[in-house]
Amino acid sequence: MKLRNKAAVLLLLALAALLLVLLSLRAGRAEPRMLPARPSSAPRRHRATAAPAKAAPGTQRRRRLRPRPEAGRRSAASLEKLARRPGDLSRSFQNVLPPELWIQLAVVACGSRLEETLVMLKSAVLFSHRKILFHIFTEEALKPEFDKQLREWPDSYTKKFEHRIYPITFSVGNPQEWKKLFKPCAAQRLFLPVILKDVDSLLYVDTDVLFLRPVDDIWKLLRHFNSTQLAAMAPEHEIPKIGWYSRFARHPFYGAAGLNSGVMLMNLTRIRSTQFKNSMMPTDLAWEDMLYPLYQKYKNAITWGDQDLLNIIFYFNPECLYVFPCHWNYRPDHCMYGSNCKEAEREGVSVLHGNRGVYHEDKQPTFRALYEAIRDFPFQDNLFQSMYYPLQLKFLETVHTLCGRIPQVFLKQIEKTMKRVYEKHVIIRVGPDRRH
Ligand SMILES: *[C@@H]1O[C@H](CO)[C@@H](O)[C@H](O)[C@H]1NC(C)=O
Ligand SMILES: *[C@@H]1O[C@H](CO)[C@@H](O)[C@H](O)[C@H]1NC(C)=O
Repeated sequence: MKLRNKAAVLLLLALAALLLVLLSLRAGRAEPRMLPARPSSAPRRHRATAAPAKAAPGTQRRRRLRPRPEAGRRSAASLEKLARRPGDLSRSFQNVLPPELWIQLAVVACGSRLEETLVMLKSAVLFSHRKILFHIFTEEALKPEFDKQLREWPDSYTKKFEHRIYPITFSVGNPQEWKKLFKPCAAQRLFLPVILKDVDSLLYVDTDVLFLRPVDDIWKLLRHFNSTQLAAMAPEHEIPKIGWYSRFARHPFYGAAGLNSGVMLMNLTRIRSTQFKNSMMPTDLAWEDMLYPLYQKYKNAITWGDQDLLNIIFYFNPECLYVFPCHWNYRPDHCMYGSNCKEAEREGVSVLHGNRGVYHEDKQPTFRALYEAIRDFPFQDNLFQSMYYPLQLKFLETVHTLCGRIPQVFLKQIEKTMKRVYEKHVIIRVGPDRRH
């Protein structure tokens, strides 16, 4: 059994290597300076010993530089190289892109969530195309550290986003009571439509979320809303029989298995202008006016804080919700009892959600491997060499777990994304040369 799994993973690695060879042939036609094609046996050997077949001089120099200097300390040469990087060509485009076209990403980070949040933001910046505005809600004590660390990222990445840091505030009711609801600060999310008055739409994510493909792709779903939809989430579970809400909830919840709010798209304009049906008043209520009565009514019945309140709201207002498939909010629940997220099997995981602290312990090594690969990726490096190969090696060690048995599900999107980033890189670098 174990052997067969290992064989399957190796086959997968061989396929990935084949893909790279094809890619290199394709790009090689356009330009000889290319990513080295990796022999199919390479992943089994240690990375450092696998000599690239036809590494360009630049690539070799880069390899010798490892371990990479930390972001921020960069040589003049690397700065110059950076200036020729793909992101920089589109910089002028980014600068003229009006702020209303930027992606708006919100997160609420309190307590020990600083590193996790920065890794999430890093994953957003690494793979996205469009400029992003980060709205970071955090405690006073964490603010300077967020500022400092975000400014230390290399220019080519800091150009791709701007960030705003906000204190935790609650506009209605008793602030202390809201703060105690669920984990520290989580109820903050319910107030975003009220606080971010100038923002039309927003992607809210928990701190333990990682983007494995451009944020642009999930952002596009906002345009798929029909005229009554104003928020989008994924189901809490794919199989109601073993889901939490269907078995334990003592309050109304959306659909057959409830909603998970860890990844949530919101059209704030619509949330602010809609009157919501509810169980507290005979009349419909505006979002802002509904929150506190809702909380008062259900506070003794709710377990998961603001997520439960959202489930109650959309139970009474189902026409307001757009349900997106589970690959946009992929959790251990989707594989730890066997694979049950069919869309992820087809599409690959698009957004990973390592809830229950799985990035920081050993129970779900696949989730941890992805977290560490993104956390440890040196910004300037080649994505395949410094993220994808190490990740594949780490995945070989996870085949004994239920989630580790389906590595292709975890790797499909990230591989596609890297291919796209890489192709963009080649095309942009080749473009000007060709005109001579
Ligand atoms: C949000 O809804 C408003 C009002 O219907 C609409 O004008 C706006 O374009 C929507 N935003 C997005 C990103 O779809
Ligand atoms: C929008 O979609 C939701 C969910 O599918 C549905 O309940 C609602 O009736 C739709 N609204 C309109 C105006 O078609």
